[in-house]
Amino acid sequence: MKRRLFTLTIYLIFAFVLSSCSTQSSSEPSTNLDSVQQGKALFEMNMIGENKAPGCIVCHSLEAGKNLVGPSLAGIATYAQTAVTGMDAEAFLRQAIVEPDHHVMEGYPPGVMYANYGSDLSQAEIDALVAFMLTLK
Ligand code: HEC
Repeated sequence: MKRRLFTLTIYLIFAFVLSSCSTQSSSEPSTNLDSVQQGKALFEMNMIGENKAPGCIVCHSLEAGKNLVGPSLAGIATYAQTAVTGMDAEAFLRQAIVEPDHHVMEGYPPGVMYANYGSDLSQAEIDALVAFMLTLK
């Protein structure tokens, strides 16, 4: 009788461990989704970062062909794939945020895009903005 109780207890502990494992692994894809959504929310803010810098949406629309101070970012993920030879879209977009004058989009002047996002924003915020822009194909 005691032995059965022991087996039952072990079984319950095992089941509990298993179920907590499975909830952990199933939450992984949603973390990526969260990051895209966070990036979208950040992108659409009028001011971002600790120095209240102008937000991306102030200069960039997400509507194709609608160019404000900066170019529309509709399709930016596709453009980012080939903009710089030997650089993948993710690396390109990260650099476009932290070092905007390193590569300048054709037809636009350098020195206009806000240049201090690299120090104003956290790594997680930059990651989220990149994750969001990678969805703009
Ligand atoms: C003050 C206006 C302004 C703000 C704010 C701004 N940008 Fe820009 N951005 C520009 C201009 C102008 C260009 C085109 C010249 C260039 O490439 O630097 C540009 C270019 C870009 C490019 C294309 C880069 C390339 O080399 O082709 C990306 C990507 C981009 N911006 C993303 C962002 C993101 C993300 C934010 C917000 C964190 C942002 N921008 C905020 C003005 C702005």
